[in-house]
Amino acid sequence: MNRRKFIQSTVAAALAGRSISTSALANEPVTFKLMAQASLTNIVGPDFPATPVWTFGGGVPGSPIRIKRGQAIDVEVANDLDVATSVHWHGIRLPNAMDGVAGLTQVPIKPGGTFRYQFTPPDAGTFWYHSHINAHEQVGRGLYGPLIIEEESPPIVDRELVWMIDDWRLLEDASISEDFGNGHDKSHAGRIGNVPTVNGRFRDVVKVSSGERVRIRLINASNARNFSLSFGDLSPSIIAIDGQAVTPYVSNEPIVIGAAGRVDVIIDFHGEPGSHLAVVDNFYRQSFDLIKLVFEKKTLRRESLKTPIALSLPKLPEPELENSLRKEVIIGGGAMGGLQRAKLDGQWMDLREIASQGYVWALNDDVGNKLDMSPLLELKQGQSVSLSIKNDSAFPHPMHLHGHHMKLLSIDGEKLAEPIWVDSPLLMPRQEMEFAFVADNPGKWLFHCHVLEHHAAGLGAMIRVLS
Ligand code: C2O
Ligand code: CU
Ligand code: CU
Repeated sequence: MNRRKFIQSTVAAALAGRSISTSALANEPVTFKLMAQASLTNIVGPDFPATPVWTFGGGVPGSPIRIKRGQAIDVEVANDLDVATSVHWHGIRLPNAMDGVAGLTQVPIKPGGTFRYQFTPPDAGTFWYHSHINAHEQVGRGLYGPLIIEEESPPIVDRELVWMIDDWRLLEDASISEDFGNGHDKSHAGRIGNVPTVNGRFRDVVKVSSGERVRIRLINASNARNFSLSFGDLSPSIIAIDGQAVTPYVSNEPIVIGAAGRVDVIIDFHGEPGSHLAVVDNFYRQSFDLIKLVFEKKTLRRESLKTPIALSLPKLPEPELENSLRKEVIIGGGAMGGLQRAKLDGQWMDLREIASQGYVWALNDDVGNKLDMSPLLELKQGQSVSLSIKNDSAFPHPMHLHGHHMKLLSIDGEKLAEPIWVDSPLLMPRQEMEFAFVADNPGKWLFHCHVLEHHAAGLGAMIRVLS
């Protein structure tokens, strides 16, 4: 065999041995490494000391993970913290063993340990990842990052921004207040902080140009704070909610993003060169400027782009309403909630007694004090479910279902003209919402309030899908 032939056959054998074909090449997983580590970051600005935080990769937010839809992902998480951790991929429909719920779907990643997450996200969209062990403390210290799955053909924009919005409770020296999971936060609105940030920075400034078209991926990574954002006279078009496309619309109301929720908007900026404008939050009594937008001297174009902004609508399993299993869920408890008694470990008790053990919330009178408790629902794979959730309490609750998206059908009995798919819908006090979904993903899936202090105080359950 001459040299050239030898090389050719060796290459061919190597290719055959690893069975590389064009499609296999496209499916080579994209690899990432995330190191859970303590770090220092300047949140409040140069006049304050840096804040000691916990991070995935050294910064807050953590290292961005971005792939194209259809690509497989292989993330090795190493734990350099002094405490165990895990990574949950919020909103991703993935195999149960990759869901990252320490104590339910995997063992915690011990200090010095590693864990490999491997999956192929089926949906394009805006997602995020975060710790899922002692989350009210770990997420509160900064253990989260953006997870972006790109569409095959996204709408044309000049720029894309990812804004991870958070809310920190800092002391005078800019260090994190250590009062995680205190009784007041648990029984009221959760850990509401005093320093709201975008991408880890307080009162950040972003330069924009008149005529520029920008897609902003808004991700609420707060423990508990909900946002209601106004963009002055800019009229953003909403193109996706909780990672799933919606028919684009301009909202005349502020954009509400509950804890853990995501909203994608497209904005055609128009403004006087040199002028500025604030994105304002007014969810709670006191409104504040979240971030400042400053118009560059140069105008990018006079007329805004006319190209379409719609994403292709989600292709999720369509629930069959007629043959669906109906389930009503009532959220009860908390301060001023009126819940008197509930079951803890199957035992009826006074709420006072339950509170003395650190719990104050219940779903259908059951306190979710364990992850692996008897399931709220046990379903056969493929079963359609009609779920009605009623918030019978005095506080808002962003209710999150793992491993599935739910189709929101009605709010307070009023049918939506166009149902949307959500994974973290925000239910205001006394509000009732109806959802439907197909339980197509086998495993044990958490269903919990994403006010992380509420989850820690019992506002959670498990839904089991049998294969
Ligand atoms: Cu964002 Cu149970 O998680
Ligand atoms: Cu989740
Ligand atoms: Cu809640």
